[in-house]
Amino acid sequence: MTIRELITLMKSKHHGVWNGTPIDESKTRDKILYGNPDVECTGIVTTCFASTDVIRKAHELGANFIICHEALFWNHGDHTEWLSENKTFQAKKKLLDETGIVVWRNHDYIHSGIWMENQWVDGIFYGLMQVMGWQKYLACDLKRPMVFEFEDATVESLAQEIIQKMELDGLRILGKRTGSVKKLMIVSHLIGPQDNQILASIEENDVDAIITMEMTDFTVNEYMRDSAMLGRQKTIFAAGHFNTEEPGMKYFAEYLPQMIGTDYKITYIQSGDVFGFIEKAC
Ligand SMILES: [Fe+2]
Ligand SMILES: [Fe+2]
Repeated sequence: MTIRELITLMKSKHHGVWNGTPIDESKTRDKILYGNPDVECTGIVTTCFASTDVIRKAHELGANFIICHEALFWNHGDHTEWLSENKTFQAKKKLLDETGIVVWRNHDYIHSGIWMENQWVDGIFYGLMQVMGWQKYLACDLKRPMVFEFEDATVESLAQEIIQKMELDGLRILGKRTGSVKKLMIVSHLIGPQDNQILASIEENDVDAIITMEMTDFTVNEYMRDSAMLGRQKTIFAAGHFNTEEPGMKYFAEYLPQMIGTDYKITYIQSGDVFGFIEKAC
């Protein structure tokens, strides 16, 4: 099958309905971001962000098709006109040309739904739950935001669990750094405009901790810090946007044979912990 045919097949196996309306092919982010899709597929790599290292590793594996969740060229819509003189753009483009890799973004489709448990579920957050092994703790339906209830979890134990299962090098936390966590919510984007709603939902759901994609210093971050200073059990596990969504693409690699069969070698390559940590020198 050509890569174009594979993409058509995959799209047909997702829900394809976003906020109540079918995904508009003229507007979706889920474009072929690079390469010629009219070639036979030699292997598939799933990842969150098709970074330079992911492209290199895919090529080493002999795979010519990367399915990523995020933009390839660092902007919404993957516009490249403005980057033509940019040195990093030129080098990444050269690597893609040399390797013959095709990159397709699966964002709107996977969030619209994969078929699991007799319903359409957000493939990224369902996959995250599976990778974390938290299904038994789910305290809501399979819609976002997901809330989990734990019996004997602590800030420290959850932090270590997140680091281990998300395959991170460390974890930033804000607010309370110790204590028990009875309820945890995975919140969506924290980028300013809708942050008040997230702050309200922290109270409505009565959660002790949240896992966040982004961090906004001037809204929810300072709210959680103040809450902790006032004696409340409030913690942010600030895993980061790509770190939080990447397990969903790990799960997608396992799920993909249900959509396209077993003829293709499918490999998940982690684009890796976004953050590095330098410890304070003594
Ligand atoms: Fe994302
Ligand atoms: Fe996403």
